Amino acid sequence: MPEPTSPINDRLIAFFRKNLLDWSVQNPRPMPWKGERDPYKIWLSEIILQQTRVEQGLPYYQKFAAKYPSVRQLADAQEDDVMKLWEGLGYYSRARNLHAAAKHIANELNGVFPTTYEGIRALKGVGPYTASAVASFAFGLPHAVLDGNVYRVLARFFGIETLTDSPSAQKQFTALAQKLLDPGCPAAHNQAIMDFGATCCTAQQARCTVCPLQSECQAFLMDKVAELPLKSKGLVKKKRLFHYLIINHQGHVFVRKRTGKDIWRGLWEFPQVEGPVQASDFGVETIRESAPFKQLLTHQAVTAVFFEIDLADDVPAVVFQNPLFEGCKRIDRKELKKNIAFPRVIDCYLQNIVLTLN
Ligand code: ADE
Repeated sequence: MPEPTSPINDRLIAFFRKNLLDWSVQNPRPMPWKGERDPYKIWLSEIILQQTRVEQGLPYYQKFAAKYPSVRQLADAQEDDVMKLWEGLGYYSRARNLHAAAKHIANELNGVFPTTYEGIRALKGVGPYTASAVASFAFGLPHAVLDGNVYRVLARFFGIETLTDSPSAQKQFTALAQKLLDPGCPAAHNQAIMDFGATCCTAQQARCTVCPLQSECQAFLMDKVAELPLKSKGLVKKKRLFHYLIINHQGHVFVRKRTGKDIWRGLWEFPQVEGPVQASDFGVETIRESAPFKQLLTHQAVTAVFFEIDLADDVPAVVFQNPLFEGCKRIDRKELKKNIAFPRVIDCYLQNIVLTLN
């Protein structure tokens, strides 16, 4: 594993801590969960902010905190309502895990949020990053956060050339982050390093001219800011092609909830055929085909094409025994934009319906 180019000694650690903390005092970044003492709200904010920019997560935090102000209220919610409120934020397993963990806290932990790192880490959907964030922000516990921002700051400051997505990287960077953590103020230190990574030591066009760590930053001194952190080649996304059938019958359409171990579990969709098909395969006369809609997920690239089919009012009942309708619910078309949480690609279609049908 490549060693840092600068030796990590007490002087450097003290320099890093002090300059980082001074920077955070001079560059406040107000957010509604800062200064929050309720561990439930802090946990909620951190789950929302996983893989999500602050600007995108903020309105979701506000909606959730207003609708479910306590862990018991979240535990008592219907899963569909939680999913609907999460709609548009992506990575829906976060919402399912959040809800499951709230139930666990309400039912098994007597409504009391765990107060130790291990207890927090044991909650569904909580990894080392989130456990450290909540433990430090809510309880002042000395656990250093390590997210993408922190990897970048550390790789640059110490000139570390380890591939950050390699198996050994996590161990190396965790140990380093922990060594740097200011034991006198873990919460302020953790918040500062994340804000610093998000606004000063940014992935693109880092603001080195105003950086308080510049004089000791190995990447800056060696002109490697744009190169670091190093990553191996990105993963190849699996391509999926979904054909959704919007089957209109007497002002109603058919929808079903996705279950099973695949993307978008718990979200709703129209009857769907995966793989290459053509409108003529459905043997129905009145059919309109949409342009392709695309959605990129972490590991998959989804293309969705929508077919609108109008069934005659008096279509024989046997039609509904087609396996396409299995598990489907018949709902009023007006419901489509109201209570049902769809994947983003379906939402986009529903919002563009008039523009894209041909
Ligand atoms: N990203 C994740 N958690 C954060 C926090 N508490 N502040 C800023 N950005 C974050």
